Amino acid sequence: MVVTLDDTKRDAIAAKLGDIKLIQQLLIQNEELFLRESTDNEISNTFHRMLEDDRKNLGILDTVIVQYGIQREAEQNVQQLAQKVRQLMQGNELSFYEKVFQHELLKHQQVMNGLTIHKAAQKVGADVMAAITPLNTINFENRAHQEQLKGILEILGVRELTGVDADQGIWTRVQDAIAAISGVFGSAVTQNSNQQDMNIQDILRMDHQKVNTLFTELLNCNETQKIQEYFGQIYKDLNAHSDAEEEVVYPRVRPFYGQANTQELYDEQAHVKVLLDQLKSMNPSASEFKNTIRRLMEEVNDHVREEENTMFAGIRNNMTNNEAEELCTQFKTAKSRIQQEMARKRTQVSA
Ligand SMILES: [Fe+2]
Ligand SMILES: [Fe+2]
Repeated sequence: MVVTLDDTKRDAIAAKLGDIKLIQQLLIQNEELFLRESTDNEISNTFHRMLEDDRKNLGILDTVIVQYGIQREAEQNVQQLAQKVRQLMQGNELSFYEKVFQHELLKHQQVMNGLTIHKAAQKVGADVMAAITPLNTINFENRAHQEQLKGILEILGVRELTGVDADQGIWTRVQDAIAAISGVFGSAVTQNSNQQDMNIQDILRMDHQKVNTLFTELLNCNETQKIQEYFGQIYKDLNAHSDAEEEVVYPRVRPFYGQANTQELYDEQAHVKVLLDQLKSMNPSASEFKNTIRRLMEEVNDHVREEENTMFAGIRNNMTNNEAEELCTQFKTAKSRIQQEMARKRTQVSA
């Protein structure tokens, strides 16, 4: 028996994340269009701030998807919906009010997608919960945007129907509603709002913690199906993480971390990959499987300790904050591309 690397539940969540990303891109396009079409200062300012949040959130979403470890296109029906909305927004069949109305529906859909993923993640595993945590920030901001859109709709609707302005105090009511939501979502939400300023150490540490969570989940588990699922994720995550490190991080640190120390990191990862491939051809219900996982976990932990203690110190002493943030972006881009290539290879093999 050979381990299957892909898991249906995890793939379904990945597709939902694909939906969220597509809708997020659509929200941004709509808001750019509204800024061109709006003639009201206050409304324009609100859209301007919303657009800034949404652009930042698209970046956070990209991080979440790469950290989650499985990339999927949006579902067919969502792609069709996006196409339809794009046409409606660009055409002139709809009034400005009606366009904003459609936009509010999309925001609602985005909030519901976020909540659904959150609930589903609780069922699948602690590693999934950890990977998607930053989605909470996006969801909180989208709920706030929904309230702002309701305010805009009230102003536009009354104006369109009667030609006169709505009552004063709409924005005060919007602010009160947002304050009420922030109470519901709680303070945990704001902790992750700086994700766009992550440096290379933060993102590597996040990956290290995730794989550690996966090891713990696997070792505490006695269900063969679940063990397969956790191993599949460990296999994909460790390979993508190591390849991306070898491509962008190790060459960058070599001048100050030293030739011998850097070579050691490459060698250790080469051995980790050998163990991963051995495990892939083993029976996950055999006791030998968990023993090999324990060996792998020890090797990974030693390697991680070297990176986090010595290599990170080297980065702190030899690179500026900007350089460390740039390296983070390069790492994410490389890892995202590697994940896609690995997925393509897996489908070729299974076809
Ligand atoms: Fe690492
Ligand atoms: Fe590494």
